[in-house]
Amino acid sequence: MAFETIIVEVENHVALIRLNRPDALNALNTQLLGELCTALEEADANDKVRCIVITGSEKAFAAGADIREMSQKTFVEVFDENLFADANDRITSIRKPIIAAVSGYALGGGCELAMMCDFIIAADTAKFGQPEINLGVIAGMGGTQRLTRFVGKSKSMDLNLTGRFMDAEEAERAGLVSRVVPAKKLVEEALGAAQKIAEKSLVTAMAAKEAVNRSYELALNEGILFERRVFHSMFATEDQKEGMAAFLEKRAAQFRDK
Ligand code: HXC
Repeated sequence: MAFETIIVEVENHVALIRLNRPDALNALNTQLLGELCTALEEADANDKVRCIVITGSEKAFAAGADIREMSQKTFVEVFDENLFADANDRITSIRKPIIAAVSGYALGGGCELAMMCDFIIAADTAKFGQPEINLGVIAGMGGTQRLTRFVGKSKSMDLNLTGRFMDAEEAERAGLVSRVVPAKKLVEEALGAAQKIAEKSLVTAMAAKEAVNRSYELALNEGILFERRVFHSMFATEDQKEGMAAFLEKRAAQFRDK
């Protein structure tokens, strides 16, 4: 499918999705969110893709939901269309691993989109925030929920109540991002991480993603049980036999996603 607000490239088993509305700092309007969801679903269904990277521009990953598009909507309109529910559900239903490569602003819906990915690699220029309070609204796609789970109540309250931005170093310290790299190296580093994931068994990677995500939904004992059962089930795969045999034979594993 041809897209107007994103650019998609597939190379070496990795789909790189670039948000591309430079004039609006990649603000997430209906078209962009729709195209992003479609691209993610296509990547999820594409046998050539084993990992996905979402990035923006050097200046902005995404500066939030599109304020121009939202500004005149009424309560009944946003309630009736269930604004942002579809994007939240579709993005979090993707089963292949997704890395957010964030440079510049990741604000409001932009920060929330990054948090819906499986992990975040940040450029040293990245700025994260939930500044919706300055617009007379609150976060609407996880900014009060996922952010709180990731960085704790105090910092989440600080960001949601003051609207201040958090730089990459603070975000790494708080546990929001997995690593910080020089801006010029961001996409290279994210593609390198994606490449590493792409070399694993996709079945195993999807199982690992599912298990980590359960930790946000379940009590610890239920999560541990879920993990153990999935761990047990991996012994039904050929990739478990191959992975362990390769270790014992001191050679690289040849996974076949079976
Ligand atoms: C629409 C936006 C936008 C947005 C920036 N632009 N953010 N348009 N929606 N969220 C547009 C500006 O209007 C401007 O267009 C152009 O992008 C460049 O932005 P500037 O403000 O001129 O750039 P700069 O001075 O460098 O400031 C950068 C910025 C600022 C600090 C990121 O743009 C900003 O504060 N943006 C809004 C951030 C925000 O409040 N995000 C939360 C949105 S609400 P023109 O045409 O004037 O050149 C939200 C709700 C989430 O996300 C709900 C769930 C998804």
